[in-house]
Parts: sequence; C-alpha cells; structure tokens
Amino acid sequence: MARKKFIAGNWKMNTTADEAAALAKAVAEAVGKVTDVDVAVCPPYVNLPAVAEAIKGSNVKLGAQDLHWEEKGAFTGKISAAMLKSVGVTCVIIGHSEQRQYFGETDETVNKKTKAALAAGLLPIVCVGETLEERESGKMDAVIDRQTRGAFNGISAAEAAKCVVAYEPVWAIGTGKTATSQQANEAHIFIRNILTELFGKDTAGGIRIQYGGSMKPDNAKELLAQSDVDGGLIGGAALKAADFAGIVQPK
Ligand code: 13P
Repeated sequence: MARKKFIAGNWKMNTTADEAAALAKAVAEAVGKVTDVDVAVCPPYVNLPAVAEAIKGSNVKLGAQDLHWEEKGAFTGKISAAMLKSVGVTCVIIGHSEQRQYFGETDETVNKKTKAALAAGLLPIVCVGETLEERESGKMDAVIDRQTRGAFNGISAAEAAKCVVAYEPVWAIGTGKTATSQQANEAHIFIRNILTELFGKDTAGGIRIQYGGSMKPDNAKELLAQSDVDGGLIGGAALKAADFAGIVQPK
C-alpha cells in the first residue's frame, strides 16, 4: 500500500517567539510548496500562534509536542486538544521518549492522550522506542510491543487509521548515532506486525511509521528508501531550515 511520506520537525524546547517565526518562515519558503510529502513543524506551545502566522498559505502543517487528555479544568500548566486546535494545530506528538524519561509519561497516559487527540480530530504521532540498555539486554521487542499495544489500547481500527507512529530508538536521539536503515526498517516491520495483529492488514498497511533519531540530510535518503520507513520525526536537524528541507527532499 502506498503511504505518503510525512516529515515532522520536533523543535523540542528551542526557539523564542521571534526565532520560531523566522525558522517557520524559512521552512515555508524552502518546502512550503511540496505536495508529495506531508510536512509539519512542532514548535513549543507558546510559539504556536507565531508559527501559525508564519506558515500561513503554505503546505506546512502545525503540530504540538504534547497535550493533556482532559478537556479543561484544574490542571495547572497543561494544554488541551481543543486549545491546540483553536490556534491551528492539526497534529500532536505523544509519548516522546523525553516525556517518558523525564516527565512521568506512561503507556497509560500515552493512551489517554492518543484518545483525546483523536476525539478532537488531531492527528496523533505516537512515539515508541527502546533504550540502549533495553536493546542490549534483548528486551527491545518486548518494550516496543508493550508501548505499541499500550498506546492503542481500546482504539478502533478506524481510529488507528488516523494515527501516525514514530519509532525513535532512544539511543539514537540527539547522539549522532543513527539506527542503520536496516535496523530501522526491521523495527518498523515489527511495529507494523503488531498493528496488523491489532487492526488487520489493510489498516496496518496504511498507518505511517516515521523514524526519529539523528536523521539528517545525508542519511535521510537511505532511511526513507526502506519499505516501512514512511517519514521522519526530526529533532536537531529541524532547527535549521536548510537541513530540514534536505530531509524533506533528500538528494
Ligand atoms: P534528533 O533528530 O535530534 O536525534 O531527535 C530526534 C527526536 O527526538 C525527534 O522527536
């Protein structure tokens, strides 16, 4: 099944409002007319309005880096799906390894957030991936299996079809160590097999699985050429428009 590639920039905790607007503008200029690849940028919450303005009229979509699962109420510091939608967000990263590692994200909260995003009509980008210790001790498959099933617990095939998965091996994030294209593809196939068990071949065959972890212009082409690598979730290289553009349209 043909899956349209999807490249999203995760800016993490980088950019002030001015910097975000300038970067978004440069991204829109570089890849704003691209139609054969879906492109999104995910700035920090406070810079969403500035970025929304900067990418207006381009094909670049606006994403957020997290959300809370409740609709509203006494949850100091949290942001709901409806709030994100109200400033033009269409997709949201959920369960990033940094959230899991530093901020107490669990498979259960990932599941709640995924359901909240779906209910609001946002495209969830659900992150899974093993640490180096887990990979080296042979637990990789079990970890990815648990994270994937946990994220999609109680979600129908029709809803799953509206999700994206990002495979981000923790040991490759920000380290300069990329999974080889073969390692990435094997993990993606493993994830797709789980999705096939859960939702059937047709639905699983349509779900895009992004790779994330030190993806750069010089390794993007080979990674994206793999059968089951359907895009990228880009950290460091998303902070330079030229590098990001070089991943969206690798040479
Ligand atoms: P890097 O591209 O900086 O390794 O980060 C990947 C990532 O965590 C994207 O979400």
